[in-house]
Amino acid sequence: MLVTVDDMLKKAHKEGYAVGHFNINNLEWTKAVLLTAQENSSPVILGVSEGAGKYMGGFKTVVGMVNGMLEELNITVPVALHLDHGSYEGAQKAMDAGFSSVMFDGSHYDIDENIEKTKEIIRIAQSKGISVEAEVGSIGGEEDGVIGSGEVADPNECKTIADLGVSILAAGIGNIHGKYPENWKGLDFDVLKQIDDITNDVPLVLHGGTGIPEDMVKKAISLGVAKINVNTECQWAFAAETRKYIEEGKDLEGKGFDPRKLLAPGTEAVKEIVKEKMELFGSINKA
Ligand code: G3H
Ligand code: ZN
Repeated sequence: MLVTVDDMLKKAHKEGYAVGHFNINNLEWTKAVLLTAQENSSPVILGVSEGAGKYMGGFKTVVGMVNGMLEELNITVPVALHLDHGSYEGAQKAMDAGFSSVMFDGSHYDIDENIEKTKEIIRIAQSKGISVEAEVGSIGGEEDGVIGSGEVADPNECKTIADLGVSILAAGIGNIHGKYPENWKGLDFDVLKQIDDITNDVPLVLHGGTGIPEDMVKKAISLGVAKINVNTECQWAFAAETRKYIEEGKDLEGKGFDPRKLLAPGTEAVKEIVKEKMELFGSINKA
């Protein structure tokens, strides 16, 4: 059964590790993430962007697929199905479809409108027992069509949003979606610490988990980050292994063109990345 992120992230926050949020795009991705979580006894969060939701047929299709896999693959670790960077309308649709958690990304609005809309999403979510992630400041780069300015969050605004009753809070602290540029200055730990100090034990979220050096990931966890989002790194690994399979001509040998064979190396590569991240985040054997 799907769960909210509340208990799994409260535990992670208290015990000093983070739970991985891995974006899913199709059946292979979903199966790879769920099986890796089960094999490693780790809680996990399946992230679905609005674009990926549409690609898979719609939010109800995603809910049906995930619930089916939980049952038929005997997944017993805690799993949350979470809307990633949701719009105001998208968050409501995901809640209606059966997601157990939603992110309302109000970072494109001015702070007053972000507060008002976040408040309304929380009101609906609480009536349905669904957890809510909000965002303050902005994550740089682009995530599935959502483009962020990279503005570092104001700790006081973080407190205002945290106090509305969100389960988790994403704050822009110099993190970027996709590839980090050569001249990246790193995460702003001073701001992260101020946010952690002021937000009364609300677990924090680190977006843009691809390519952040390990020491920075560990420091972020020590400063209150309990959920880390990873997307691009799984896509790179999937694409590289699929390319290798085709370049080696394996799709032309026997029944190598069968999608169940063609997509297998990429799917294995996603499993490896997910496991590496679970090890780095410290969530293995925490289910
Ligand atoms: O919301 C999803 C993420 O923040 C993923 O970022 O693609 O840089 O790993 P990434
Ligand atoms: Zn993100």
